[in-house]
Amino acid sequence: QEVKLAATPPMGWMSWNIMSENPNEKDIKEMADAMVASGMVKAGYHYIFLDDCWQGGRDNKNNIIADAKKFPSGIKSLADYLHSKGMKLGIYSDAAPLTCGGFTASFNFENQDAKTFAYWGIDYLKYDYCNAPEDVATAKIRYGKMAQALRKSGREILLGICEWGPREPWNWGAEVGGQSWRTTYDIRDKWNDTEGKGGVGIYNVVDKNAELAKYSGPGKWNDGDMLVAGLHGVKGPSSAYNGKGCTQAEYQSQMSLYSMLNSPLYASCDIRKMDDEARTIFTNEEVVALNQDALGKQAERKIKNDVWDIFVRPLANGDYAIAILNKAASTQNAKINFADLGLADKYEIRDLWQHKVTGKGNKWAGQVAAHETKVFRLKKI
Ligand code: GLA
Repeated sequence: QEVKLAATPPMGWMSWNIMSENPNEKDIKEMADAMVASGMVKAGYHYIFLDDCWQGGRDNKNNIIADAKKFPSGIKSLADYLHSKGMKLGIYSDAAPLTCGGFTASFNFENQDAKTFAYWGIDYLKYDYCNAPEDVATAKIRYGKMAQALRKSGREILLGICEWGPREPWNWGAEVGGQSWRTTYDIRDKWNDTEGKGGVGIYNVVDKNAELAKYSGPGKWNDGDMLVAGLHGVKGPSSAYNGKGCTQAEYQSQMSLYSMLNSPLYASCDIRKMDDEARTIFTNEEVVALNQDALGKQAERKIKNDVWDIFVRPLANGDYAIAILNKAASTQNAKINFADLGLADKYEIRDLWQHKVTGKGNKWAGQVAAHETKVFRLKKI
């Protein structure tokens, strides 16, 4: 059966982390230009996801409208601008009267808003769940209603379910018509949550999504929230509980593991000022190729112990990818027999961060730095 919507995970840049309450057309257009100039679009990051706080209420016919100060030319003109660059536009709403930020949302206006989004040329809707009833049944109904409204809107608009996990949307997200669902509360620019203030760190998301492999596949993805590379503790929602950010190895691990686990990939730092390290992480086309692999099979975690998490996935051309994460706070020596991961043959071993073949055989041994992830593509020989 051919999957039409989100056959591979959506990729792009999301406004929330750096623009939060002030997304606006000037900055968004500059970001789109930077996405092209930096090679992000070429690497596959086609979407700009305009997050919360764009709304200006409803007009006298109850049509949802943009804040005219933030978007003086309107959303349709912004979508036209992005489409002219080969990009796509995502927008944000919520399954209640008000969004998380307290702006006008789409509950009871699903059909009308979906038509407006289609008229504007929107390609994706991030649909949040703030201010909505807590039970699962209501969540299913509200997301299903918006999914149907989008399907009837006359335009192909993906539905990203932004329910943060408590109602286990992986159990029902695909059934009600969503193409992805968030699995955790909002990501922070940190490795691991030890602060208990609601946000999660990179490894918390990885650890959660590792349990959800069976729910993922073409057209239905476990969404790990934004990539935090390049933020370096910059002030914003994601850094609210942490002024420091992550190490380079941690940012690289998030990219590696989200690719292995087929999470949608949303960069969230300021692309206009992005450093080379962040660019190198996002535009590693060999790693992106895992995320976008046509088989769409999320990696399985084959080993989890105090030090290591090891993931394996098959790829469309018959190769395998493996990822070896060192969770310890210091460099560790790894010794891995591929047979222990269910890979019985001998392989050519290609390191996807070094971009070269580094060995052959049925095992790998080497050093992995603290919170670093080695990613190898194995070709049978
Ligand atoms: C929630 C979502 C975030 C962001 C904000 C916007 O917290 O999980 O990703 O969209 O709302 O208000």
